[in-house]
Amino acid sequence: MQHRLLIGVGGGIAAYKVCEVVSSLAKAGLEVRVILTDSAQQFVTPLTFATLSRHSAYTDQDFWQPVHGRPLHIELGEWADLVAIAPLTANTLAKLTYGLADNLLTNTVLASTCPVLLAPAMNTDMWEQIAVQHNWQQLCADSRYHTVGPGAGLLACDRVGAGRMAEPNEILASIDSILYTRGKRDLVGKRILISTGGTREFLDPVRFIGNPSTGKMGIALARAALHRGAEVTLVHAPLGTTELPPTPNLQAIAVVSAEEMRQAMQKSLPQADWIIMAAAVADVKPAQFYVEKLPKSALPDTLPLAPVPDIVAELAVQKQPQQRLIGFAAQTGDIMTPAKDKLTRKKLDAIAANAIDQPHIGFGSDANQAVFLDKNGRQQCMDQPCSKLQMAHQLLDFIHGI
Ligand code: C5P
Repeated sequence: MQHRLLIGVGGGIAAYKVCEVVSSLAKAGLEVRVILTDSAQQFVTPLTFATLSRHSAYTDQDFWQPVHGRPLHIELGEWADLVAIAPLTANTLAKLTYGLADNLLTNTVLASTCPVLLAPAMNTDMWEQIAVQHNWQQLCADSRYHTVGPGAGLLACDRVGAGRMAEPNEILASIDSILYTRGKRDLVGKRILISTGGTREFLDPVRFIGNPSTGKMGIALARAALHRGAEVTLVHAPLGTTELPPTPNLQAIAVVSAEEMRQAMQKSLPQADWIIMAAAVADVKPAQFYVEKLPKSALPDTLPLAPVPDIVAELAVQKQPQQRLIGFAAQTGDIMTPAKDKLTRKKLDAIAANAIDQPHIGFGSDANQAVFLDKNGRQQCMDQPCSKLQMAHQLLDFIHGI
């Protein structure tokens, strides 16, 4: 069934970024309806959202226009699978906290029971007011409300500080997760340690042995786990363009080489319930490291190599029985035989095997497709590619069943 999304747009300059959110959702084939508050219309017009969502956008002018003989806010409230409010202003935040309903948006929220995603945006002084923070904490404590941002950075009022609305891709990822989980937070209390990115093994300060991994799969796993309430430690080798902004419950540790990743993973191991090794770790490194850049004429014809420790295999020996250790196997050709071999040889609890020689999936792409195998012989095969975030959710579900 097509998901039905109601977007509430508040009166802030960040409303212009919500146009991109609505456009992406409509392009992805979701049914989208938009409500603009009066002040939102000072920044963007209903016509903008009507055009992007392929449906008339609602304003307070429509409040008393019944649909099929029923009040509009009741119809919309019952219709929505998810309400996302972006930008959430201090005013709408206060109204939601106290159950006030004086416009179409706040009436619709009260008339709905689906999850609500909040993306606040306001000037730093406004955001940091005790009253605003009090209201925010109140809503955060209510399991119905999910949050994304605010981040910190340059604001349209020329301040640099907290209160910047989450970027459209973060809002879209949160929407995707909530639609998948229907708002359940089944990983509250779980501590998940994830490695991602491709390690770099340097020969000298400029040359290294590396691989094309961009870390997108591990970032998707971190996002999915955070959206489900987990505490996440993300040990990442250099990433591509995808970034995970500072997020509550997220500790990000940047490393470069396999040796640095090994140390960070071992240090974080004792606190973790689940360990997911999504990093593309080098298998070998140059046998010698030169502190100064080698002149071209001094480069060797053949490069002596030394092995790199197998991090996941070491973790398998060090972990406690109740901890779950999951590896990845990125393969060309037959993906199953090497994956089964790695599952047993590296003593993993489960492995996700994915092809890297198929178009549109694997390294650097936003989509992936995999087979999940566990040590008890359970096997789950994804019959078509999906977004890395969707695959991350499926893998987290699979780990639950080990
Ligand atoms: O490279 P390979 O296909 O063996 O990777 C399988 C699993 O082992 C992955 O989870 C990867 O992160 C992990 N690995 C590791 N240390 C290495 C090589 C791979 O932890 N040196």
